[in-house]
Amino acid sequence: MNDINLIALEEVASTNEYLKKIIDKNTPEGTIVITNKQTKGKGQQSNKWESEEGKNLTFSLLLKPFIMAEQIFMISKVVSLGIIDALLSELGIKFKIKWPNDIYYENKKLAGILIENQMSGERVNHSIIGIGININQEKFLSDAPNPISLKNIIKKNLELNKMLNKIIDHIAIWYEILRYEQLEKINLAYWQSLYRNEGYHHFMSQKGKIKAKIIEVKNDGKLILETSEKKRMGFYLREISFL
Ligand code: BTN
Repeated sequence: MNDINLIALEEVASTNEYLKKIIDKNTPEGTIVITNKQTKGKGQQSNKWESEEGKNLTFSLLLKPFIMAEQIFMISKVVSLGIIDALLSELGIKFKIKWPNDIYYENKKLAGILIENQMSGERVNHSIIGIGININQEKFLSDAPNPISLKNIIKKNLELNKMLNKIIDHIAIWYEILRYEQLEKINLAYWQSLYRNEGYHHFMSQKGKIKAKIIEVKNDGKLILETSEKKRMGFYLREISFL
């Protein structure tokens, strides 16, 4: 990601969808589509993403990572690490990454990431990284279970542009580490900031409730859990949720 190519829109249905539509082979890596008003923001698992006009960051970043399918989740790891590092350096607050890629403050969700990858054979051709971060919004109206904003935490308004630049800078730093294939460094940092990386917790799997501890998050995104009887199990996205 060398340069930023910023496309700022007053209003759009979804920055991910917009970027998807305008991409061709000449669209440079580092292209960002950002908007003040997203009318049909998409969340994970076909949820909606709520964001009050002009209050938050809602944008999509185009990356062209040279990465194999079995390491696809490394993209998600570097993006979440970039976001929490930016927040730590700007605000001095430590946020957690809730697997797979929500940004959490205590038990509340500050930001969500929706990554849409276009594969070409066994490789990632490009990734659209959709990021929604609650910055100055104070009240949330949708039925999203536990939203929080930076304003709710620090009681002050923040400048959106400044936050965007910080976040992009820090994602670029981690993306560079990925380009140099320092996967161990990324995995260690991700683990250290992982929500509930200690102790036993309840999860809901397709086969029912389980109590287990997190052992690892693999490079392809698989969550490895272990029960107190030392039984290990692996789950991909959507196969399990935190209770
Ligand atoms: C989640 O459900 O946690 C993911 C939310 C992702 C929201 C962002 S906002 C910018 C981009 N455009 C979208 O339509 N969604 C993502």
